[in-house]
Amino acid sequence: MKTDLAILGGRPEVELPGPHYRWPLITPAVELAVTRQLHEDVAIYGRYGVFERVEKKWSAYHGRAHSLLMNSGTTGLLSMFVGADLHDGDEVICPAYTFYATASPLFFTGAVPVLCDSDETGNIDAEKVETLITSRTKAVVVTHMWGIPCRMDALLSVCRKHGLLLLEDSSHAHGARYQGRLAGSWGDASVWSLGGQKIITGGEGGVLSTDNQSIHERAVMLGHYNKRCFGEVSDPVLRRFALTGMGLKLRASPMNVAMIEEQFSHLDQWLAQKRKFAALITSRISGLPGLAPPVVPDGAEPSWYAYVFQYRAAELGGLPIQRFHDALVAEGCRETNLPTSTCPLNWLPLFQEPAGLFAKYKQCSIAPYAEGCFPVAERFARQAITLPVWARAEDEEILVKYLNAMEKVVRGHKQLL
Ligand SMILES: Cc1ncc(COP(=O)(O)O)c(C=O)c1O
Repeated sequence: MKTDLAILGGRPEVELPGPHYRWPLITPAVELAVTRQLHEDVAIYGRYGVFERVEKKWSAYHGRAHSLLMNSGTTGLLSMFVGADLHDGDEVICPAYTFYATASPLFFTGAVPVLCDSDETGNIDAEKVETLITSRTKAVVVTHMWGIPCRMDALLSVCRKHGLLLLEDSSHAHGARYQGRLAGSWGDASVWSLGGQKIITGGEGGVLSTDNQSIHERAVMLGHYNKRCFGEVSDPVLRRFALTGMGLKLRASPMNVAMIEEQFSHLDQWLAQKRKFAALITSRISGLPGLAPPVVPDGAEPSWYAYVFQYRAAELGGLPIQRFHDALVAEGCRETNLPTSTCPLNWLPLFQEPAGLFAKYKQCSIAPYAEGCFPVAERFARQAITLPVWARAEDEEILVKYLNAMEKVVRGHKQLL
């Protein structure tokens, strides 16, 4: 292994030309699927064609009664919240650490996001959830961050005990399992983003699955007016409005869904490879000071959307994370990241002062969120470094070079102090 750090003028450990990680994999099969779709249907107004095929496959895989494709994960989350019939003043307990779209659609329902700190996995802390429940709490939404499943047994029992809906944002967790059961099949409903970087992607897209007839029908009413409402909404009160629904159009584009169908056929094979690579990363970084592998709950099989390890500056003489990361990038590890847009929600103006954008929140007592409210989540976010988890065996060479580079920077960290 080379010893002089590249950031100080040495030779980089990773000299392969980039990008080193491409996702999604655009294969001839993807091209064929999209081209075929162009000749089949470019717009789908009801539940037929590729929408019906993919929704049926998604439901069967997850053991759910209903699946509804959307144009994004964000609109899927909005549909889940409208589906759950949330209203002004209802409280929904949300993870403090998640991508903001897990909770931001709540502002369109009038419900109040009540943020909850993380446990050591980075996911919502099931014990703290219980302390936040009030008479106004209607639901708990959880995110399986970076593909590591939440402790769903504990969360489910809290929700059942208090009569709350359990809603899942499984956008990082396609195919992840906890106690053998798929993420997205524990709660009353789940949404998966199928956006550009997700494990299953159509470029853009999302899907909502549930066994709850009312959540499904209300979600159809929100964003799939006319044909789908007439076809799928049985509630007589809602059905009166079937032609217009609630007036929005959130449905997916068939070409995106054709790609999703093709990608879905590879899920189990990709996950098997990702799990092997994740084990390799863990075995290599476990022995290094300054880098702590993710904490995976017992019985969890993550999807490894990304491998997110914790940087412990104190073990490397106080070397700031930014300097450590700059040194990694100089070694050629351009696919490692310090995530910024995925950050604790209490750092974001939208959650600190929603009334600035949504006037109705002037009237309600929303907790005054500020930096420092959620110490576990905030520490997790400040110390997080992401590494892609490749899905093809032939990418082992590049992964090993990255791991060598990480070891080189750790071993040479004193030169950076
Ligand atoms: C956890 C999580 N939830 C929701 C979303 C939103 O999904 P989309 O980008 O498909 O709207 C994302 C997207 O990155 C996400 O990571």
